[in-house]
Amino acid sequence: MKINTTKLAKDFITENVKDGDIVVDATMGRGNDTLLLKTLTKSGFVYAFDIQKDAISSTKDLLIKNNLYENVSLILEGHQNMDKYIDKPISCVVFNLGYLPKADHNIATTPQTTILAIEKALNLLKQKGIISLCIYQGGDTGFEEKEKVLDYLKKLDYNKYTVIISEFLNRPNFPPIHVKIIKEI
Ligand SMILES: C[S@@+](CC[C@H](N)C(=O)[O-])C[C@H]1O[C@@H](n2cnc3c(N)ncnc32)[C@H](O)[C@@H]1O
Repeated sequence: MKINTTKLAKDFITENVKDGDIVVDATMGRGNDTLLLKTLTKSGFVYAFDIQKDAISSTKDLLIKNNLYENVSLILEGHQNMDKYIDKPISCVVFNLGYLPKADHNIATTPQTTILAIEKALNLLKQKGIISLCIYQGGDTGFEEKEKVLDYLKKLDYNKYTVIISEFLNRPNFPPIHVKIIKEI
């Protein structure tokens, strides 16, 4: 199988998250990233956010099926309010933007709340903590969120944060982009 954005994100998260870490899934969806984070953090803790009850129940079912429904908090709340729930430095925040698969495509992340959430995530991260960000474009999603989020990230202080984007230049249909952010100091 060819490499895709999900694999880029998974590799980056797996290289950086370890046993005992406190981490965040900012867009729980069907729970795949929450499950990955739970598998990697073991005795640590995962906070997962979504604004849809459907996402919470799918993720809960997936964790129970895998015997990993412990040291995790599934929170029905916008990720832009993550700082109300987390008061310790965290190692990793995962964003997989867009809409919930097999649900209403109109309920999706927005540029304003995503940027606010990234800002909060950057403040909560400890030194050498990471953000993994998958940004969709084209189709129902359009280009506004991608453009606004990248524009915000471009302006981050390069002494404090390293930002690297990966995109598939020669693939059709606007494939998603992966962004790696590392908090340097
Ligand atoms: C592409 S899905 C995430 C996929 C998920 N990571 C997985 O592994 O299945 C995007 C999710 O973001 C959620 N979302 C939209 N706005 C949000 C917000 N402000 N805060 C948290 N989640 C949000 C949607 O409800 C949707 O479930």
